[in-house]
Amino acid sequence: MDRYCVFGNPIGHSKSPLIHRLFAEQTGQALTYDARLAPLDDFVGDARAFFADGLGGNVTVPFKEEAFRLADELTERARRAGAVNTLKKLADGRLLGDNTDGAGLTRDLQDNAGFSLAGKRILVLGAGGAVRGVLEPFLAQKPAVLVIANRTVAKAEQLVREFADLGPLVAAGFDWIDAPVDLIVNGTSASLGGELPPIAPSLIQPGHTVCYDMMYGREATAFNRWAAEQGAARCLDGLGMLVEQAAEAFELWRGVRPDTAPVLAELRRQLLAG
Ligand SMILES: NC(=O)c1ccc[n+]([C@@H]2O[C@H](COP(=O)([O-])OP(=O)(O)OC[C@H]3O[C@@H](n4cnc5c(N)ncnc54)[C@H](OP(=O)(O)O)[C@@H]3O)[C@@H](O)[C@H]2O)c1
Repeated sequence: MDRYCVFGNPIGHSKSPLIHRLFAEQTGQALTYDARLAPLDDFVGDARAFFADGLGGNVTVPFKEEAFRLADELTERARRAGAVNTLKKLADGRLLGDNTDGAGLTRDLQDNAGFSLAGKRILVLGAGGAVRGVLEPFLAQKPAVLVIANRTVAKAEQLVREFADLGPLVAAGFDWIDAPVDLIVNGTSASLGGELPPIAPSLIQPGHTVCYDMMYGREATAFNRWAAEQGAARCLDGLGMLVEQAAEAFELWRGVRPDTAPVLAELRRQLLAG
């Protein structure tokens, strides 16, 4: 059977094996997909051992930058992101590195939520790895403006320098902006600790602004609870992004695009069941 895996450390929590098993069943693809605990000090050795006969792998925390350096060839979006979450063994044995996180979020917003990014005023909170991966796919949709607000403003400014050739990008601190926007994406890890980035409530136009937290959980995240209190039109979480980035990887490996809706519904059911 064709072998795939996800590399991470820790890895026990990963939902990727379930997602890819469901994709494989649905599309009739014969493959195995396992969670692989790569040693913190030897991701490269572990990846090389796997790819002796493995065909593809996802890469999660903390190895995305190492996977970027390991890849022999990069897609443009991976090169821009500076991080790789998907590796594919090519026919000649070399490794192709891709980054499907941003495309996954874009698809979740556009296809699943019916929110078109074109011409919109977008605020992205955070300037870490996840936001870096989202900028190229977002700017490809031609928003009116994309503001990156971060606690450490210098990191947002650095991203603007790196991506400004792709579209209208602005860097800001959390308290520099207060005019309503069409979409706010929380790409900070503040929700992990139940915290909120300190942004103005006036950024949300009641009944209009859509809010998206890249994090997800059984309960609504702190950011989505706050957004709902301000009257956001919709509050979405990152479960759809997770399933959509996996679908992008599956298509890259197998040449078949799975139907994500039933898989997302099953993940949501399991999440709510605890
Ligand atoms: N759904 C998905 O498929 C998916 C995929 C990838 C990531 N994610 C989620 O996205 C989030 C960010 O991940 P990442 O890999 O980008 O992390 P990261 O590289 O560590 O970056 C963390 C970012 O959060 C900011 N931050 C951390 N704590 C904060 C706080 N208390 N208040 C305000 N800002 C804070 C940091 O600001 P400074 O620069 O000032 O430190 C930085 O911008 C995580 O919640 C992760 O679970 C979801």
